[in-house]
Amino acid sequence: MTDTAAPARNMAPITSERVALDLPILGDVPHALHGTLFRNGPNPQFPQAAQHWFTGDGMVHAFTLSDGRASYRNAWVRTAKWKAEHRAGRALVSGYTSQPSREGDFVDEGVANTNVIWHANRLLALEEGHLPIELDPASLETRGVQDFGGRLCGPFTAHPKADPITGELVFFGFSVDGELTPGMRFGTMDAGGRVTRFEHFDAPFCSMVHDFAVTRRHVAFPVLPLGGSAARQRRGGPPFAWDPALGSHLGLILREQGVASLRWFRMDPCYVFHVLNAWDDGGCVVIDVMQYDEPPLFPHVDGTMRLPAPEARLVRWTIDPDAGTDAIRQQPLDDTPGEFPRIDDRRSGLRHRFGAIAGRSRPGAGLDRLVWLDLAQGSRRCFDLPAGDGLSEPVFVPRDEAAAEGDGWLLATIWRAGEGRSDLAVFDTGDVAQGPVATIRLPHRVPAGFHGNWVQAAP
Ligand SMILES: [Fe+2]
Repeated sequence: MTDTAAPARNMAPITSERVALDLPILGDVPHALHGTLFRNGPNPQFPQAAQHWFTGDGMVHAFTLSDGRASYRNAWVRTAKWKAEHRAGRALVSGYTSQPSREGDFVDEGVANTNVIWHANRLLALEEGHLPIELDPASLETRGVQDFGGRLCGPFTAHPKADPITGELVFFGFSVDGELTPGMRFGTMDAGGRVTRFEHFDAPFCSMVHDFAVTRRHVAFPVLPLGGSAARQRRGGPPFAWDPALGSHLGLILREQGVASLRWFRMDPCYVFHVLNAWDDGGCVVIDVMQYDEPPLFPHVDGTMRLPAPEARLVRWTIDPDAGTDAIRQQPLDDTPGEFPRIDDRRSGLRHRFGAIAGRSRPGAGLDRLVWLDLAQGSRRCFDLPAGDGLSEPVFVPRDEAAAEGDGWLLATIWRAGEGRSDLAVFDTGDVAQGPVATIRLPHRVPAGFHGNWVQAAP
């Protein structure tokens, strides 16, 4: 497989690290876009048969926009696993939905393949089972595990939330007492990277808690019945499986009081990979999520998979802490199936009006529709890609610091299925339906990945 071949659904890894300057552009890149979009995703150095999407080595792609021009760079995150496998010339770790196996003598730093964020002047590649891995923002060279002065240990979510008012980073970890254990941690660090809180608590059971919700006053942990079981794994079953009998639990704490204020709320079985945003509405907590009836990509406890794969839609949860622990109200907000929801991050933890989703033009399609939602008006604007093409997570960039919420651009990569390569597309939120105002053409593919963020350059 070469980097420009056209694999089904753009899942195969690419094999090279490149720098590309002055990329060809259709349309005009707004001059106000002065910075870099960093994206992360799985890109196994040594792909294995039937490898789970979640397990590939992280590869970071950086698109730098400046003065209307565009350049690109990509690099693997050189974890201890990546380096050991590179020396061995073959894969040393296998298994995820089956019994794992591991060869070689190296520290388990994970694969750093899920998100890449900028905090406290550091570029951090994240994967929820391990500590952040710091990268050089210019070269993408791997600097190594970042434990913030020895204050952090164990799993660190790939979806921490930055408070737009204080700059504080709010984070958590699951399975913190060892693989498939119910222990969790809640933590905060200030804008300078000083860890200010790092507390342990027990969830009702081990769940794959991929994301969480943070408001100005509250933090909510969705412990949903994608359950982890070491006993099941020892019997040869899947370590993580859909087990609705476990029920859905939402742990709610007050940010200022930490886990001492933890209360568990109950709701019907469902699954959520991603939270759009959350806020405090009077005494209630409102959380907008992409909700599945049951998770895709993971089996039932008997090992069977539900087909066709379940799909997520945007649903609003309203929790009234004074109304009892089984009074979570669920309200569908939009019927577009999709994933990778994002807001204008300046509204993180605050009531938001706008949201973007990588949607599907019809159930069962790939992510082929950019959806820009106006939740105040209950309206949406969409742009559909040509048949077969695929959209990444859309990342919002404001037109300038003072711009109103949602006034700016959405940046997303688009896989051009017929050409076996990718573009970076820039959409103006003023009229998403007209299509990209700028399309930056790469000569090669950017494989389907997970998450990224825009880092504005210094003026
Ligand atoms: Fe995610």
